[in-house]
Amino acid sequence: MHYSLDNPHEHRHHGMRHNPFKALVAPRPIGWIGTVSKAGVLNLAPYSYFNAVADSPPMVMFSSTGRKDSLSNVEETGEFTCSMATEALVDGMNLSSAPVASNVDEFKLAQLATAPSLMVKPPRVAASPAALECRLWKTLALPRTDATHPEHIVVLGIVVAIYINDAFVQDGIVNTGAMRPLARMGYMDYSVVRPDTVITLNRPVASADQQSATVQPGPWDGVYR
Ligand SMILES: Cc1cc2nc3c(=O)[nH]c(=O)nc-3n(C[C@H](O)[C@H](O)[C@H](O)COP(=O)(O)O)c2cc1C
Repeated sequence: MHYSLDNPHEHRHHGMRHNPFKALVAPRPIGWIGTVSKAGVLNLAPYSYFNAVADSPPMVMFSSTGRKDSLSNVEETGEFTCSMATEALVDGMNLSSAPVASNVDEFKLAQLATAPSLMVKPPRVAASPAALECRLWKTLALPRTDATHPEHIVVLGIVVAIYINDAFVQDGIVNTGAMRPLARMGYMDYSVVRPDTVITLNRPVASADQQSATVQPGPWDGVYR
């Protein structure tokens, strides 16, 4: 099948039970967003409309489908954390997505201990192997299809501190595969990155005249291109 999206319900005309969009942009990293409301209530929720978007300063984004507590808290306080959701923490991650009232602390709901951040007030998930501490740069309201679809608001944050469990650092390199990060696919599907599914590729090097390129096979040549 091959169809245009002039009509937001077009997939139904092609026998698709659900919009396939998210199943086709996969796997997506999960930002497990920790915030605190102005009144001091902790909040934790997973967001798979999440990614890194810049290196210097390092920046991340997450997108809220409708106005959710994480967005309100970031707007109120300007700070959030992104803990890495992993295979070992899958049940807690899922539970923390429960649509509970804004006075409920999902760290407690999901029985996840908190650990203090270095630079921001919201804590991180203590058992998570890595976390980013972020300050709000900007929110951005995306174009809305129509009143029957919720609005999407993107939160862009600057990463001001990083936590890494030292057990996952070897020779100055983070072993991301050993952390077993969880990723979101479509529908209710997830995938897990494991050490045996990580592959390493050297970047292509252009010839002097920049008309062709070669790739050195085998392990990383050690140059960060
Ligand atoms: C793996 C996963 C990814 C999710 N990604 C998003 C997302 O990108 N945007 C969103 O608005 N909701 C997302 N959700 C749903 C929110 O986690 C859920 O609505 C949650 O209750 C929001 O919490 P909050 O109101 O405390 O922010 C996701 C849920 C799961 C389980």
